[in-house]
Amino acid sequence: MALYRKDNPESTGVLTLQQKLGRSTARRSLLWAARLSRSPSLTLPDMATLYTILLTLHNINRWLVLLTGLWALIRSLGGVGGGKDLTPADRRPVVMFAGTVHLQLVLGLLLFALVGSQGGRVFGDAPRASFRWEHLGLGLIAAVFATLASAISKRAKGSQAPFRAAALWSGLALLTVLLMIPWWRPLLRLFS
Ligand code: HEM
Repeated sequence: MALYRKDNPESTGVLTLQQKLGRSTARRSLLWAARLSRSPSLTLPDMATLYTILLTLHNINRWLVLLTGLWALIRSLGGVGGGKDLTPADRRPVVMFAGTVHLQLVLGLLLFALVGSQGGRVFGDAPRASFRWEHLGLGLIAAVFATLASAISKRAKGSQAPFRAAALWSGLALLTVLLMIPWWRPLLRLFS
């Protein structure tokens, strides 16, 4: 759909509805950004609170990752050699595992961005400097493995292949997660 544009003689005279909407959205975002940057309420203590909230959610979701991962692995291994087809109930833990890992990835990226934007050092308490990159890299790999567990088991044909694929990729994802967890940090953090 095109709209006539009067104010610019150099233009073709026509502005698509999409362009028009894009411009007003961009203008609104700029106004919000300007308002936020002037706002006295966005102070450093707020950043610290946000960090504590994100870190707590990242800490607690780690247990959901481990529980769903273990559930997916046990359920898939149980189906190998059983001779029955993969059911929605068999797929549920595999899909939930991929979901919790993706949520963990998003929370982790937000934490990384927040600490970085404040000039802080991510994992400043780690036993080695490379840990922060190992954590990030292995987190991405775990997300790929968990996604493969869900995607390949869904498409695989026959009664054995779906269970085998789910067990293999869920197992690899779970192993990667176990290796990357900073076990020296609190096992349960509640907004502290
Ligand atoms: C996918 C599996 C992941 C698990 C199980 C996991 C687990 C954890 C745990 C247990 C902590 C410590 C929380 C605490 O101190 O209470 C942590 C911290 C953190 N993780 Fe992850 N994480 C994962 C993925 C990621 C990814 C992909 C990123 C980055 C993109 C990330 C970034 C961070 C950051 C920035 C911190 C805080 C470091 C600091 O406080 O200095 N995590 N993670």
